[in-house]
Amino acid sequence: MAQIVLTLIVGLAVLTWAASGVVHTTARSWFERDVTSRSRLALTSARHSLVSAWVGDPKILHAQLMDLARDERVMAVELCNADLSVRARTDAFPDDFGCSIVGSRARVGKNGGYVLHEWNAVSALPSGRVYVSVMPLEWEGQELGFVTMLHDMSFIERREAKARNFLLVAFGILAVLAFGVPMFVAKRARSDWSIELRRILRGGAKHKREFHPIVSDVVELAGQMANDREDAPAQWNAERLKQVLNRRLFGEKVIIVSNREPYVHVFTEDGEVEVQHPASGLVTALEPVMRACSGVWVAHGSGSADRATVDRKDHVSVPPGENSYDIRRIWLSEAEEQGYYYVFSNEGLWPLCHIAHASPIFRSADWRQYKAVNQKFADAVCDEADSDDPIILVQDYHFALAPAMIRKRLPAATVIMFWHIPWPNAERMGICPWRDELLTGLLGSSIVGFHTQLHCNNFLDSVDRYLEARLDREENAVVARGHRTLVRPYPISLEWPVRWAETAPSPEECRAQIWREFNLKPDAFLGVGVDRLDYTKGIEERLMAVELLLERHPEYRGRFTFAQVAAPSRTKIDRYRELNEAVEALTERINNRFGHGEYRPIILLREHHEPPDVFRYYRAADLCYVSSLHDGMNLVAKEFVSARSDRKGVLILSEFTGAAKELTEALIVNPYDVETSSEAMATALRMPISEQMDRMRSMRSVLSQFNVYRWAGKMLGDAARLRSQERVTGRLAERSSIGTAV
Ligand code: G6P
Repeated sequence: MAQIVLTLIVGLAVLTWAASGVVHTTARSWFERDVTSRSRLALTSARHSLVSAWVGDPKILHAQLMDLARDERVMAVELCNADLSVRARTDAFPDDFGCSIVGSRARVGKNGGYVLHEWNAVSALPSGRVYVSVMPLEWEGQELGFVTMLHDMSFIERREAKARNFLLVAFGILAVLAFGVPMFVAKRARSDWSIELRRILRGGAKHKREFHPIVSDVVELAGQMANDREDAPAQWNAERLKQVLNRRLFGEKVIIVSNREPYVHVFTEDGEVEVQHPASGLVTALEPVMRACSGVWVAHGSGSADRATVDRKDHVSVPPGENSYDIRRIWLSEAEEQGYYYVFSNEGLWPLCHIAHASPIFRSADWRQYKAVNQKFADAVCDEADSDDPIILVQDYHFALAPAMIRKRLPAATVIMFWHIPWPNAERMGICPWRDELLTGLLGSSIVGFHTQLHCNNFLDSVDRYLEARLDREENAVVARGHRTLVRPYPISLEWPVRWAETAPSPEECRAQIWREFNLKPDAFLGVGVDRLDYTKGIEERLMAVELLLERHPEYRGRFTFAQVAAPSRTKIDRYRELNEAVEALTERINNRFGHGEYRPIILLREHHEPPDVFRYYRAADLCYVSSLHDGMNLVAKEFVSARSDRKGVLILSEFTGAAKELTEALIVNPYDVETSSEAMATALRMPISEQMDRMRSMRSVLSQFNVYRWAGKMLGDAARLRSQERVTGRLAERSSIGTAV
């Protein structure tokens, strides 16, 4: 800016200088011409009287010359004889223009003699410049002499100086106007502009079209900076998550919707009400997030005492005694639960998404229930919203249609759908007769999240194959019907530290308790498995690996016990009942084969265990085997690591879990390969404590950083960025949607 101003000032100075030169030359030639004609006029009119008085009284000549000099611009007049002597002159005529000097200049040769000519010239005296005009005087052909008139030219210089000054002032004013006015206008515009920009960035919904490009850049940059800050190595915790919510989402209330509720109220046999924590990875992960964020969790009221514990609006405050957020319970009829939950969700979508060899069942009656229940939950979510643009976290495969249903009622809502299970490849997705509707429903979300990039890719491929939509592979986004959905990997995790690990007895104490309960020998080894009784968890393969271990390593017979905590799950479904029976039969076979006396190699604990109890098993065990045949993440693996504050114990982990991508210091196995898996168990049992500790330390450090607060913080951070972009570009996007709609 300073450089531009300097250049302009120098330019103007040069222009002024050039202009004053032109003015000087032009004015001078005008003035000289003026003086010449004036002196010629004066001499011509005086000529006759001068000639008449030539021979008379010199005083009269002098008086005539004085008359001529009365003109204010005539300085002096002299009358010279032809021989160049002085005939008469006004007082103080300067000697520099004496008769001989002027005469010699005005005379030119003519026929061998000299003739005086009219002569006009500018000359200089020490007092200033003068104009000299000489005119010959003749009488009847005879040369009498000549008259010299000196004009004062200092007035020309005065006028020139005036003109120059005027020019300077004029250019100066021009310069001020030329620079000042645009600068003032620019400054005003900039100030208006930055006020407007600040207003928009603070969340003013509407803005002018010209702001669109810059605002999206600023928003992008601000988002990046905020994300960089959030990527900072500082530990993520509940407090930091709250700050993200307050700072970036202005303390907006969060609404979660999932099928499973975080707290189930059940009647005990004595008619008392008991609170249970369901065995659900989704609940394990999201409950601490909800405690940090507050808000409402909309879920199916499935407990026998659930209705007895809600208020008139079907709300109940949880966690008991802490009351940080509300559960809004939705009641389902038996038919709804059957069609939507058991069949379509768990016999259709669950096997569809897991490569675990169960045929998906798709029946239109169940699909109708699925749609109706999705609408029921979507309506409840919208009723819970207290603004036009709430933040809604839709959870899992039970609610693939809900995002679009919510968007229909609340177009400005930020809907984040997290799919907790794997997403199959496009070909497999094609099995589902309602794949297009499911995909369209999910694309009502602002963000669709999966645990891994692979599942994001599978989802994008499915959209590509089955829908008319534009895929932005660069941004991992889908634009369908004018709406843009980001597709992102967010590997889910646990709170850190896990509260159950905080409150559980020490690992030594847990070991002592379990040893007593199972009547184990002091030199015994304990392995654990903790799962819902689900065919995707590879429980049969796991037990077979234990069997093979005992077969191949007789030294562990009588010493190695495997405790399988198996929470009954979806027991109305045949496939789950079959599994239950198969696991029971397998346990019996192995126990018969290798058990003796009080020793039973497999202890099957087929009932619901509350988290503190589960943590006792984790803490007591020498190894934990997670053998899922296919799993989105698997939080049991992470829970085991979180429980081992003593850094002892070995995790054997299926390569088909999302967790295997993060917990790389586990012994990673293919659970279908029973031989290798059983060898991994032997390796674990032989592993020196120092190696166990090294592996555990490294995995615990991963979990402490990549905890569930970070998971939620990342998602909400992306949502916040999206919201500010949408606030800024919302109207434009609406207008341009005609162009982008497909
Ligand atoms: C998986 C699903 C969850 C579900 C959990 C327990 O982890 O992703 O959505 O809550 O299994 O299953 P259930 O059917 O008992 O809720």
